[in-house]
Amino acid sequence: MYRPGVSSRRSFPVWMVVLITLGVMAILGLTIGLLVHFLAIERYYYYQGSFHISGVTYNETCENAASQASTPLSKDIETQMFNAFQNSSVYKEYISSHIIKLLPYANGSNIQTQLIFRFPPAKRESMRTKIEAILHQLLKENMASWNVVLGSIKLTEISKTNAEKFTNNCCGRQLTNSIKADNRIVNGKRALEGAWPWQADLQWKGKQHCGASLIGSKWLLSAAHCFAKKNNSEDWTVNFGTIVNKPYLTQKVQNIIIHDNYSSSAFHDDIALVQLEKEVVFTKYVRKICLPEAKMQLKENDSVVVTGWGTLYMNGPLPGTLQQALVKIIDNKNCNAPYALAGMVTDTMLCAGFMSGESDSCQNDSGGPLVYPDSRDIWHLVGIVSWGKGCGQKNKPGVYTRVTSYRDWIASKTGI
Ligand code: ARG
Repeated sequence: MYRPGVSSRRSFPVWMVVLITLGVMAILGLTIGLLVHFLAIERYYYYQGSFHISGVTYNETCENAASQASTPLSKDIETQMFNAFQNSSVYKEYISSHIIKLLPYANGSNIQTQLIFRFPPAKRESMRTKIEAILHQLLKENMASWNVVLGSIKLTEISKTNAEKFTNNCCGRQLTNSIKADNRIVNGKRALEGAWPWQADLQWKGKQHCGASLIGSKWLLSAAHCFAKKNNSEDWTVNFGTIVNKPYLTQKVQNIIIHDNYSSSAFHDDIALVQLEKEVVFTKYVRKICLPEAKMQLKENDSVVVTGWGTLYMNGPLPGTLQQALVKIIDNKNCNAPYALAGMVTDTMLCAGFMSGESDSCQNDSGGPLVYPDSRDIWHLVGIVSWGKGCGQKNKPGVYTRVTSYRDWIASKTGI
């Protein structure tokens, strides 16, 4: 009988040596890999930071629009916090910081912020100490102007899931800030994913028909004229996402509420609510827009943005991808000038666009949002695409339903 391996007692065969070496290297590699992964590779860390102020009592969460009363304070805190971290030793690790809630506390308010950093796990303890120290210093410096209760600061690490859930439930927050630079759904440009997460596509019998804005987990605001002779809920579906044919989410419609005084001839009270069958679960791509306070006022030349899947020009093609256009508020008086819309614009409508033409909304954009960012870049729904004379024509700006005029009507129907 043949007996193999007689010599193997003195030296291993080559294949075995190679195998063992490879095995050892693999284990070593894996260990180093895991160590690097767990200790040296950067990860995101989320914190909740809170402190108390005395004097003024606020009661606001980011799920609803902040009142104009608290905006200056929140803006100031956010700016100072940003600067403090940017100019600190952890500027490289700093990602963002925002105010999330202002809640009543003792004789004042509890301010809750959310902070995001990115660093390797090995730095967890030292980062925490540094962040706390920076916040403490910041509050000390602003103690007088914000009425800070020193010593009330608390920093808690929170999970990514909780942090994201919180932001997703806020109103008016974009995922990607994509405006500011563009100018010119006539002369617009393609929207980035998550830039306008409240924008919905209203499809009638499976075809793109109108736009709408998500204002609550079960409610959308749109234009009444979208539903003229098309008021059967079952014929409608609501899609979210930037590409018409590839929605992230599709929802069924339970009910359509058209304003009682809507008149198709004069286009007044061109507003409708769409109630969904099921609640939407907010994600980074599907979020609600903030509603403005009834007293909010816009001025001539304020910058606003209109978005939609409407035609690229009068009787033109549909784009398929969500378009955005920066337009300017035009005062009703100017808009009603004899050479412009000659008195057809009522107090419950607003004009936006350019007297020179340029950018405008167009057919099939109807019902869609006209939105305005406050000083903190939180977006508010100020208009609903309603009507126009052609699209993008000289002296014929787009006309929108003025949302502030219907604030009470919306509240009475939805509780929002
Ligand atoms: N009524 C149009 C629609 O059904 C919207 C027109 C908006 N026109 C404008 N020039 N801004 O889609």
